[in-house]
Amino acid sequence: MKFRNLLLLSLFSSMLLLLSCQINRGKKKEIIAEYSEPYRPLIHFSPPSKWMNDPNGLVFFEGEYHLFYQYYPESMIWGPMHWGHAVSTDLVHWQHLPIALYPDSLGYIFSGSALVDYNNTSGLGKPDKPAMIAIFCYHSPVLEKAGKDTFQTQGMAYSLDKGRTWTKYAGNPIVPNPGLRDFRDPKVSWNAETNKWIMALAAGNCIQFYSSTDLKKWAFESEFGKNLGAHGGVWECPDLIKMAVNNSKKESKWVLLVSMNPGGPNGGSATQYFTGNFDGHHFMSDNEKTRWIDYGKDNYAGVTFSGIPENDGRCISIGWMSNWQYATSVPTKPWRSAMTFPRQLNLEKGRDEYNIISNPIDEIEQLRERKITLNPFIASGNIDLTKEVPFGLSPIEIIADFSLPQTGFANEFGFELTNSKGENIIVGYSNQTNKFKIDRLNSGKNDFSKDFSGIQYSGELKPEKIISMHIIIDLASIELFGQSGRVAMTDIFFPNEVFNCLRAYCKGGSVKCDRVTIYKLNNIWDSIINKQKSGIPE
Ligand code: FRU
Repeated sequence: MKFRNLLLLSLFSSMLLLLSCQINRGKKKEIIAEYSEPYRPLIHFSPPSKWMNDPNGLVFFEGEYHLFYQYYPESMIWGPMHWGHAVSTDLVHWQHLPIALYPDSLGYIFSGSALVDYNNTSGLGKPDKPAMIAIFCYHSPVLEKAGKDTFQTQGMAYSLDKGRTWTKYAGNPIVPNPGLRDFRDPKVSWNAETNKWIMALAAGNCIQFYSSTDLKKWAFESEFGKNLGAHGGVWECPDLIKMAVNNSKKESKWVLLVSMNPGGPNGGSATQYFTGNFDGHHFMSDNEKTRWIDYGKDNYAGVTFSGIPENDGRCISIGWMSNWQYATSVPTKPWRSAMTFPRQLNLEKGRDEYNIISNPIDEIEQLRERKITLNPFIASGNIDLTKEVPFGLSPIEIIADFSLPQTGFANEFGFELTNSKGENIIVGYSNQTNKFKIDRLNSGKNDFSKDFSGIQYSGELKPEKIISMHIIIDLASIELFGQSGRVAMTDIFFPNEVFNCLRAYCKGGSVKCDRVTIYKLNNIWDSIINKQKSGIPE
């Protein structure tokens, strides 16, 4: 009897094991497929499935870069916001973690920031365990539906286990709403001059600053920007950063990033910036001009990492690679949106202004698998480079320098990617207007929005003899860093067939290609996919 029972038990458990293996296999297949769908970015962060918008709470802590993001896990369109979560040890390969913050009775969890409270100013940490603190906007759908204006407040949550689990602060909200419908996206940083925390907050058509000594009680300091900069839409997602000036040792400046939707230079969402001084209470701009972080249509709500170690010292930003004009209808499945490749921001002193320079972070070098360097050549008309790039076009990086001959120089030149359907994406520079452009007029699917198709232009640059382009191409996006990062342009696209031909083009004259280096880049999801294939849990 005993023996029969044992036999039955072991038969039953073998069946269970078999069943769970089948389920796991099914699951494994499902996850692997998630990284090979059409338009799935191969070197950019995207969630495995469902809706994502702004990057949130970018913070470095104990060897990990945290990327939280606006996430709606139930649908492919925007809805009740959560904070999705991923970590990376190199800013390039990401590991997905469970959702960090869920909506609660105070509302959805809108955008915000994260920091590490090393000195335990909040008292929420333990002597040997500094708390990781997330400060975000609560958006109450209940108050909104009730017709109140006060539906956005600021809240706080903390984690004592490297961001794996979070507790909402019992005294939320930490900043009540003063009667403003748009009152959100807190970015909190430590101000060493006043020994206080400073919160930059988007408040309709300006940025407000608050200060605190304990992260719990906040005092209003000042507001900035009602009569400065671009005001085509509501201001969102500010970031106040102190930056060293690159080419002027020992000098530093304050920079204020302000996203705005709509009203970007090429339509829809975009991020402007101000340079100036912050005395711990007020931000004062030193420039009247409107300046944009990126002139493409698809880099929004970008903010920078907190907690980057001093011996690194970089200012690293990530933006949302989409635009509110069409984000909810782009033809990707089963997820929507990706982040930009992380960028290093630098500040450069010009003749009478300080300008932001953006470039891909050096960690991109880890992804370079093969390198092709072309001999210098003169282009007049089109030069097919497809054969030179036997490894295909996605993802690749192109680094090129062009110079103009004494006479007969080209009106416009650059690169064009095409496919056999005659679709193309063009990235170029016009010598007549001194502007870069990305043309996605004929880049494939575009009927999902009247605002998608078009040509984007950068601002006008000062004429130069050498034009440099650093370009990152993924399956459905292009990022241009022109003139060593003085211009950045980011655009997404959706060809009906992968782009597989590359040409250098030149219109009306000739141009010399002094240097063209092309790198094949490795898929950042390969290690996750390989682990999944071999059954090692992620
Ligand atoms: C910017 C934004 C933020 C807001 C969040 C909501 O894209 O509108 O202002 O907090 O998205 O998802």
